[in-house]
Formats: sequence, structure tokens, C-alpha cells
Amino acid sequence: MSETTTGTAKRLPIIAIDGPAGAGKSTMAAHLARRFGFLNLETGAMYRALALKAIENDLDFGDEPALMELAAYTRITLQPQFEGNRVLLDGVDVSRRVRDEDVTAAASRVSVHPQLRTWMVDQQRALGSKGGVVMEGRDIGTAVFPDAEVKIFLDAAPEVRGNRRYHQTSPTKAVTEESIIADLKERDSRDRNRAESPLKAAEDAVILDSTAMTLNEVLTAAEEVVRAHVPEPLLHK
Ligand code: DC
Repeated sequence: MSETTTGTAKRLPIIAIDGPAGAGKSTMAAHLARRFGFLNLETGAMYRALALKAIENDLDFGDEPALMELAAYTRITLQPQFEGNRVLLDGVDVSRRVRDEDVTAAASRVSVHPQLRTWMVDQQRALGSKGGVVMEGRDIGTAVFPDAEVKIFLDAAPEVRGNRRYHQTSPTKAVTEESIIADLKERDSRDRNRAESPLKAAEDAVILDSTAMTLNEVLTAAEEVVRAHVPEPLLHK
């Protein structure tokens, strides 16, 4: 497979990275984007941005009609950077704020709603329509771009994901390694069990389990997967 024909327009390759929270998807996506000269798009940041707006408007995260009304006058912009994305909510940079714990919990709740997911998926398809992107999330290989040239499902045991995240977080009394693991398991369960586009590996995804791998090993394995699926001339570096 090289360039894919969608109707009459050809597009560049798409690399889809899916997997549970804390598996290292963002690090992998940023690395592959730099390595191969692609744009890196973190779709989770879009759910986070809408969740932040829901918090600011004091909305009930279970109230889908109210969330859809809010979405109708919401503009979310992802600006790919060397590391990760800058996130603009209605033109305001919320990149740091969307990583806070209250937004993380809210994003997990708002992302279960089918209509809201459709609203997000439409925008994500438009963002990636020309290809040349590494798109990272939960449903990229299954729902957003089922025809992606490369699909990686990055997994790791919850204890290992929680441990890594614990060591990346600034220590506070309220946050323990156990509380992070419990929180990850709760979000995993919501992501995997929702009715609409639940988190699961696409049938044609390459599954990488990083539980017993170093970061370098994971990144090297991911590069190999890309090279196995995309002809060299389409990789910029
Ligand atoms: O990847 P993340 O932790 O930034 O994602 C935030 C939330 O958004 C997470 O609870 C799952 C949800 N999400 C989703 O449902 N589908 C995506 N494609 C990306 C994220």
C-alpha cells in the first residue's frame, strides 16, 4: 500500500496509534512524527478541551443534549509541536489546563456520548484527510481512519502504566501510586465498555505490549512497524 485512493483524491499515509491511558501513545506519536516528518495529532486533547468547557459552564457530564449544544459554539484547535500538541479552546491556549485531574476525569465521562463522538470524529477525519499524520487516541484505527496504512495498538499492564505516570507527576499528598493505578483502571473500564467505539485493537492492528520493554525498545519496534507498512519514499526521513 502506498498512497490511498479515496474517491479521486490521493492522500499520504496515516499512522493510527490507539491504546489505554498511560501506555505511552503520546511519546510514541511525537517520536514517529519527528522521525518521519508527519504531523502529530492528539485526539484526546479534543475531548479534554470540550470537557474543560463543560466544567466552565457547570454542565452535567451525563447530559448529552446540553453537551451537544455547547459543542455547537465551540472551536477546538490542535497545533502540533515538537512534543505533543498545543490546544486552543475558542482561541485560548488551554494546553496545560486540560491536563489537570478534574479535566482528565471529565473527559473520560463526556467521551462516552455517541453524538459527541460523531462530532469529534468528523473533525478528526477533516484534520487527517490529506494524510501525513500520526493520529493518537482510542478509536483511530477502528472508527476514525479504519483504512489507515499503519495501526499500532499500544498496551501495558495497568500497574506498569500507573507506575510510569506516578514518576512523571509532581508529588502531592493526595496522589499516590495506588490512586493513579485505580484511576487508570476506572478510565480503562469506561473506555473499553462504552457502547460507541469502545477501546479495542483493530483486527489489522499490530499490538505492542510495552509492559516489559524499555522506551527505546518500544520506539524502535514502532519505527519497524511503520517501515514494514509504508514504502520508503513516502517517509520523509
Ligand atoms: O488520551 P487522553 O488521556 O488525553 O484522552 C482523554 C479522554 O478522551 C480519555 O478518557 C479517553 C477519551 N478519548 C476517546 O474516547 N477517544 C479518543 N480518540 C481519544 C480520547
